[in-house]
Amino acid sequence: MRLQILFSVFTLGYACDLTKEKNWPNGTFSAFHWWQCGGTTTYFSAKTLDLKGQSAYPIHLTEPLIVETEWETKAEFSKGTIATITLWSYGGVLGCQWSEVPTLGLLSRLDACSHGVPCPIPSGKQITRITLDFSNFGSVIRLLKDNTPYQLQYELKDESTGESSCMLSQARAFTK
Ligand SMILES: *[C@@H]1O[C@H](CO)[C@@H](O)[C@H](O)[C@H]1NC(C)=O
Repeated sequence: MRLQILFSVFTLGYACDLTKEKNWPNGTFSAFHWWQCGGTTTYFSAKTLDLKGQSAYPIHLTEPLIVETEWETKAEFSKGTIATITLWSYGGVLGCQWSEVPTLGLLSRLDACSHGVPCPIPSGKQITRITLDFSNFGSVIRLLKDNTPYQLQYELKDESTGESSCMLSQARAFTK
C-alpha cells in the first residue's frame, strides 16, 4: 500500500511527462530552438529543411537534414575544418533532463568538408546550408526514443585560420 502511494507520487509528480506540450523545453513541441555557444562566428538565424529545401519540423534523425543558417564568419573555414557533434535526448523518471547520447566518438573530430559543410566557406556575412546525416548511425538512432526533444551541439574549428563556431539547438525529432 505504502509502496503503491509512493509509486503514484513518483509517476504522477516527477516523471518527465511529454504528453503535455508545456513540458517540452523551449517550445520545441512546435518550433526549432537554437542559440550560439561560443566561437568566432556570429549566427543570425537558423532553420531546418529537408533535402528538397522545404521547411522541415519536427525533424527526422533517420534522414539527412539541412540546417540553413545566416551567419558571419571572421575568417575562412578552409579544407582542414573539423566538425564535432554532440547529441542529447530529453526525458527521465526523476523529471525532465538532458542526457547525452553516447555515440562512441563517431561524431567527434569529423572532416567537416566531407560531412555536409560546403568548404571552403569565405569570411563575411552569408547564408550557408549544412547537411547533417546520421544515416550511418541508423542502428543507434533507431534505439533512441521516438518523438522526443533532442539537443544537438554543432562545433566547427579551423586550426589554420583560427575560425570556430558553436551552435546549440533543440528540436522535436522522430527516430523511427
Ligand atoms: C532553453 O534555451 C536556453 C537558451 O535559449 C538555454 O539556456 C536553456 O538551458 C534551455 N532550457 C532547457 C530546458 O534546455
